Amino acid sequence: MLFQIKSYLRFLYHSKNEHGVHSPFVFDLVTKCFYDKKQYPEYSILKNYRNLLLANKNTIEVTDFGAGSRVFKSNTRAINQIAKNAGISRKRAQLLFRITKYFKPNNILEIGTSLGLATSALSLGFTFDIKGKITTLEGCSETSLVANKMLQKFNFSNIEIIVEEFSKYLINPKLEARNPKLIYFDGNHSKQATLSYFDLLLPTISNDSVWIFDDIHWSSDMEEAWQIIKNHPKVTVTIDTFQWGFVFFRAEQKREHFVIRI
Ligand SMILES: C[S@@+](CC[C@H](N)C(=O)[O-])C[C@H]1O[C@@H](n2cnc3c(N)ncnc32)[C@H](O)[C@@H]1O
Repeated sequence: MLFQIKSYLRFLYHSKNEHGVHSPFVFDLVTKCFYDKKQYPEYSILKNYRNLLLANKNTIEVTDFGAGSRVFKSNTRAINQIAKNAGISRKRAQLLFRITKYFKPNNILEIGTSLGLATSALSLGFTFDIKGKITTLEGCSETSLVANKMLQKFNFSNIEIIVEEFSKYLINPKLEARNPKLIYFDGNHSKQATLSYFDLLLPTISNDSVWIFDDIHWSSDMEEAWQIIKNHPKVTVTIDTFQWGFVFFRAEQKREHFVIRI
């Protein structure tokens, strides 16, 4: 906790808003997407999805694959508690929806489905007239069953949940997951795993890839991973928004690292 407070204070010191951002690509992203204050009707669907999970006190037996939980002591977990503690926040889900809408990715890969809170945001922002789909990975079968039921209940049809350990899947991904334009990395927050997923997915990059890493300041380990990613020769632009780190591989763009308050 103390680590995160110090890290956040460092972030606040270095961060800025759109002023002083000279890259038109980043300026547009910040002003037209990050700071877009419009109340989209899709937000009420996100709210209903979340509320249904928060009202669900049933328990499931969770298989823990990730870097461990700082909240849960047992693997028997109530669905509403998983939604509260492991799922994307309301504000972030709205932002993820806007990011998907803004970049119009063809295929999306989500690493870490949990109960599908972020998946629903990706799906709502997805442009249906583009052929493509959302592939989302989850190792815990009981968790994925709940996500599947919820996503069906809300009629999200362009999603495939793959129940498999991440690295096993990423070593030999299906065709759609071989060229995802948007990747949301949200599971197994350890340095080693994050860097290994980064390496495994590097062959999929294109000039317009958008990669989002969750929890880049979660631990010193994750901060080290973020530094290594920023310094990778293929990476040209990064944006640190504290919770999320955005990575771009745009060849035409000058190498630059931004720290932006959202
Ligand atoms: C933080 S949660 C994902 C939250 C979700 N994206 C959301 O916003 O609602 C991470 C999920 O990844 C799964 N997970 C973590 N490490 C994994 C691994 N190595 N293989 C497969 N699943 C894993 C966990 O079971 C957990 O459900």
